[in-house]
Amino acid sequence: MKADFWHERWQNGQTGFHRDDVNPYLIRFWDDMGAHRNSQVLVPCCGKSHDLVWLAEQGCRVTGLELSPIAVREFFEINEIEAVVEEVEGGRCHTAGPIRIYEGDMFHMDLSCIGTVDHVYDRGALVAMPPDMRDQYCARIRALAPAASTLLVTLDYPTEEMDGPPFAVTEREVRKRFNKENIQCVYCEDILEEDEFFRARGLSRLDEAVYIIK
Ligand SMILES: C[S@@+](CC[C@H](N)C(=O)[O-])C[C@H]1O[C@@H](n2cnc3c(N)ncnc32)[C@H](O)[C@@H]1O
Repeated sequence: MKADFWHERWQNGQTGFHRDDVNPYLIRFWDDMGAHRNSQVLVPCCGKSHDLVWLAEQGCRVTGLELSPIAVREFFEINEIEAVVEEVEGGRCHTAGPIRIYEGDMFHMDLSCIGTVDHVYDRGALVAMPPDMRDQYCARIRALAPAASTLLVTLDYPTEEMDGPPFAVTEREVRKRFNKENIQCVYCEDILEEDEFFRARGLSRLDEAVYIIK
């Protein structure tokens, strides 16, 4: 999607993707990622997610990437954290202890100084990208985190029933895009029953899946 789409969603408070708790799949599967204390975790399209704080509590250094200044401001406000802000080319970097968030467009910001990324946590990033942006997204992540393992949460549904975002990502696509030897689908369930919002949008199936990619 174009940047304006997301800016508008944050301005209008249309942020139904935001959870008030830590993502249960992150809690359930994080140990399987083999992260060590001080590992750096990259969280693209992080919004104002509580997952950032949870990852930091596990002893990781957390680097979020987020387009919306509103999301970034609200993240630090909600968590009552004060950050040091530095300008970077194409954006700003907010740092507070083990958490830093690069505010700006992840495709255009200078992120050359983020250092070695050990893990990527993608919830709501790949599925936020329409099919014609996914090559660019995956190339960017590969460039930023060439040796990282990934915990990926996707959604899949009959595409003729709804326009994204979120966009459907099939298991076949995950396997094609990540092209790594070890891709495990560790969870997949139709969550439509619990999701009134997507039922109202006319879906007949909504599979949520979690992959560990090493
Ligand atoms: C579906 S939301 C997911 C947010 C978060 N991961 C979560 O679990 O709540 C997608 C987020 O990606 C951000 N985003 C979209 N395009 C972006 C870009 N080019 N660079 C950085 N962030 C972007 C949006 O502002 C939005 O907050």
